[in-house]
Amino acid sequence: MASLLKPPLLLSLVFSFFILCSSSSEESTLLTFKASMNDSTNSLSNWVSSSPTHFCNWTGISCTSASPSSLSISAIVLQGLNLSGEISSSICELPRLTHLNLADNRFNQPIPLHLSQCSALESLNLSNNLIWGTIPDQISLFDSLRVLDFARNHIEGKIPEGIGALKNLQILNLRNNLISGRVPSVIFHNLTELVVLDLSENAYLMSDIPNEIGKLEKLEELWLQSSGFYGEIPYSFLGLKSLNVLDLSQNNLTGKLPEMMGSFLKNLVFFDVSENKLMGAFPNGVCSGESLVSFSVHTNFFTGSLPNSLNKCLNLERFQVQNNGFSGDFPESLWSLPKIKLIRAENNGFSGEVPEFISMATHLEQVQLDNNSFSSKIPQGLGSIRSLYRFSASLNRFHGDLPPNFCDSPLMSIINLSHNSLSGRIPEPKNCKKLVSLSLAGNSFSGEIPSSLADLPVLTYLDLSDNNLTGSIPQRLENLKFALFNVSFNQLSGAVPFSLISGLPASFLQGNPDLCGPGLQTPCSQGHPVNDMSGLNKMTCALVSIACVLGVMSLAAGFVLYYRSFKSKSRVDNWHSVYFYPLRISEHALIMGMNEKTAQGCEGAFGQVFVLSLPSRELIAVKKLVKFGSRSWKSLKAEVKTLAKIRHKNIIKILGFCHSDDAIFLIYEFLHKGSLADLLCRNDSCLNWNVRLRIAIEVAQGLAYIHKDYVPRLLHRNIKSSNILLDVDLVPKLTDFALDHIVGESAFHSTVASESAHSCYIAPECKYNKKATEQMDVYSFGVVLLELVTGRLAERSESTDALDVIQWVRRKVNIANGASQVLDPSILEHSQRGSMLEALDVALQCTSMMPDKRLSMLEVAKALQLIGSTTNLDDAAAFSAAEDDSSVSS
Ligand SMILES: *[C@@H]1O[C@H](CO)[C@@H](O)[C@H](O)[C@H]1NC(C)=O
Ligand SMILES: *[C@@H]1O[C@H](CO)[C@@H](O)[C@H](O)[C@H]1NC(C)=O
Ligand SMILES: *[C@@H]1O[C@H](CO)[C@@H](O)[C@H](O)[C@H]1NC(C)=O
Ligand SMILES: *[C@@H]1O[C@H](CO)[C@@H](O)[C@H](O)[C@H]1NC(C)=O
Ligand SMILES: *[C@@H]1O[C@H](CO)[C@@H](O)[C@H](O)[C@H]1NC(C)=O
Ligand SMILES: *[C@@H]1O[C@H](CO)[C@@H](O)[C@H](O)[C@H]1NC(C)=O
Ligand SMILES: *[C@@H]1O[C@H](CO)[C@@H](O)[C@H](O)[C@H]1NC(C)=O
Ligand SMILES: *[C@@H]1O[C@H](CO)[C@@H](O)[C@H](O)[C@H]1NC(C)=O
Ligand SMILES: *[C@@H]1O[C@H](CO)[C@@H](O)[C@H](O)[C@H]1NC(C)=O
Repeated sequence: MASLLKPPLLLSLVFSFFILCSSSSEESTLLTFKASMNDSTNSLSNWVSSSPTHFCNWTGISCTSASPSSLSISAIVLQGLNLSGEISSSICELPRLTHLNLADNRFNQPIPLHLSQCSALESLNLSNNLIWGTIPDQISLFDSLRVLDFARNHIEGKIPEGIGALKNLQILNLRNNLISGRVPSVIFHNLTELVVLDLSENAYLMSDIPNEIGKLEKLEELWLQSSGFYGEIPYSFLGLKSLNVLDLSQNNLTGKLPEMMGSFLKNLVFFDVSENKLMGAFPNGVCSGESLVSFSVHTNFFTGSLPNSLNKCLNLERFQVQNNGFSGDFPESLWSLPKIKLIRAENNGFSGEVPEFISMATHLEQVQLDNNSFSSKIPQGLGSIRSLYRFSASLNRFHGDLPPNFCDSPLMSIINLSHNSLSGRIPEPKNCKKLVSLSLAGNSFSGEIPSSLADLPVLTYLDLSDNNLTGSIPQRLENLKFALFNVSFNQLSGAVPFSLISGLPASFLQGNPDLCGPGLQTPCSQGHPVNDMSGLNKMTCALVSIACVLGVMSLAAGFVLYYRSFKSKSRVDNWHSVYFYPLRISEHALIMGMNEKTAQGCEGAFGQVFVLSLPSRELIAVKKLVKFGSRSWKSLKAEVKTLAKIRHKNIIKILGFCHSDDAIFLIYEFLHKGSLADLLCRNDSCLNWNVRLRIAIEVAQGLAYIHKDYVPRLLHRNIKSSNILLDVDLVPKLTDFALDHIVGESAFHSTVASESAHSCYIAPECKYNKKATEQMDVYSFGVVLLELVTGRLAERSESTDALDVIQWVRRKVNIANGASQVLDPSILEHSQRGSMLEALDVALQCTSMMPDKRLSMLEVAKALQLIGSTTNLDDAAAFSAAEDDSSVSS
């Protein structure tokens, strides 16, 4: 009996010993690998010997079952862990390792050739590290690799021919390195399996496009943009039957596109040859074939000629050929492709038409044809594309009337048809409630300005100049908040609505001799219908009632939140907190401390601020953010840490934070002097100019720091004088910065949109440009600088004067000697007026309506420092009472 049992028992013993043995050797291999690396963030803390966790469950490790009962490591994925040190070849002892991904780390070494000893390795991803040196010819040793990703490193030198030996390669990515010289054609002989080839963003390449690439029949993505390729696009490209993506943009390519390109475009989704020197007519074959498909059902609608066929390019979504020298007729069949979203062909010499059947391109979003020789009518079909948000076709020869539905797309934001030969009346735009910019300048439109323009709530740029428009400017247009209003050189007459003359930054009315109004050559005579201001009054009234409603709503919301926060107080374990400084205050004490007594001022857009006293009697400011976005504790912690790590004397310190399901409390250092808005001008005394200038310089330096020097780069996104706090020495510190990182972009956006849409600190382009930019911060800073120069608060709620500081300054500055009239009258020293005027000039540049005209924050800081260097900034007396000043100046 016993002898019968023995053999299986022995076998299983041996077997389990084998498993243990192989497993423990894989574990020790990992530990050797770890030892060679520098894990500064301690991300691999669970990689420890005889750990309770099986190594297959360690961070970044995946296993495969080598046999039914034993596991073996198949993949190591350690991306984005800030690892540095050595990539040790010890991992090649793992017999089944197929995937190694160390992307987004800080490995700073030459290409680790020794990894070619990993016999099973199929995928090596070292993208976004600090790999340097050349690609050695021995790269050929990696011949088992299917994926080689060295993108975004500092690899230099030529591409060696040895790379051509990697015959299993499916993905080769060398994007964004320092590779130079010519790409050897021979390497592509054996790379027949290649699916993705990316050599883009290698500015030092100087190469023709190798003919051999055209033979890669499996190639789906070819990325060669911004890499110094010159010469012609090889004819062999017609063989790229599987191609989805072709990006050859921003090179020095010349010549024509290969004839019959349609046949290779067939599968394309993304076609970009923009910004080259390509020329000649576009090949006939584009998106059209020989065989006709039946779409006779729809033929009745079409007045233009039919495309030959629609059976090609059926997947094309993006077509970009702009900034080349193309000529001849634009390929008409593009206009009806079922998936096309983007067509850009501006700055070429294309002729031809935009046909009526454009309406079949039901996914079209953006069309730019400016500066060509298109000559047709604007098709009625355009108005029926629901997804279209931009149509610009300026500087062409479009003629005839504008179809009545030209602005029917609900998403339409930008229409530019300036400098064409359009005529007739401008139809009433009705349905395009998102229209931001309408330019019809330089045509022959006649009739009146359509009054329903006033119903487009976000219309900001309106250019109707150089037409033949008659009648008066519709009174209701004064309800819009224009950044540009240009009706110059028409034949308009009558009174100009008051706000269009007074409040506007840029209003162009000249060349209409019959217009009248204050400030114009002809004042309105008795006969003219004079503006009775009723519109204005109505608007003020509406604004007041909106404000009231909002006030009540936020009170109610505040109450609900308050109540909820009280409720959650009892559940203290719901609170998580992180203190970056020893605050010695419990979460409980912190939360209980926030009440009506400690609340400061009124509730801001993002929440209420409380001032609490620590047991040490130091004060802290706590901002309560109502947590909108849902976000994991871990990611929230990481975001706040990112902000808290900023060390700059003009950025407020975040001491810690605390959060529950309902709210986030940010704990800031407390500054005794309060905000710039409070301090700039109190009843009797104002900050003197030297102090103001120093504050401006330091705020600019703080912003320049977060924009350019801090990693990651940040935007403030909420600059205003009430967010600039001053310490006892009047050193300014920015607060409330980068709240988008904490509440999340969508919550941030909706808060800004609802609470401060009409704030004059917000740059005009915010309305249509969802992506926040540095220029938007610069604009807001410019508004603060205007406050410092003029002594006027940006938004004066108490005043009957409805103009905000921007409108007020622009209005004055536009008239001769107006600039000196805006300087703060309480600063009387004449010696300082020069310096104030220079600062005013900087402020006006910062608040330019055109974002690209604004200075960068660094330029602003430098410009202000230069002004400061001629002014003595160490003036002892910060405040100057008006009486004292008058005695000084006299
Ligand atoms: C790890 O990095 C730190 C800081 O960069 C350095 O002081 C230390 O010497 C490094 N250790 C190894 C093993 O490279
Ligand atoms: C890994 O962890 C999971 C869940 O914690 C567990 O079910 C699994 O058995 C572990 N795998 C190994 C190999 O230990
Ligand atoms: C990443 O590592 C580098 C040096 O290895 C170190 O200077 C840096 O502070 C680390 N970053 C983080 C976020 O830990
Ligand atoms: C390499 O890793 C990066 C970062 O995770 C990733 O974006 C990229 O797609 C990977 N490359 C390949 C070829 O999978
Ligand atoms: C292509 O493969 C063949 C046969 O394997 C080999 O002789 C040749 O050297 C390879 N060419 C290149 C450029 O590596
Ligand atoms: C194009 O070629 C010119 C001269 O050969 C060179 O100066 C320029 O940098 C090239 N442009 C690109 C995008 O490679
Ligand atoms: C129009 O395009 C031509 C090239 O086709 C270019 O030279 C010219 O600068 C462009 N004009 C404008 C106003 O962009
Ligand atoms: C409209 O097109 C003209 C001519 O191309 C250009 O100068 C102008 O800046 C464009 N307007 C807008 C608002 O984009
Ligand atoms: C403007 O209209 C007048 C009268 O209707 C006409 O004589 C003139 O030619 C028109 N000008 C242009 C540029 O269309």
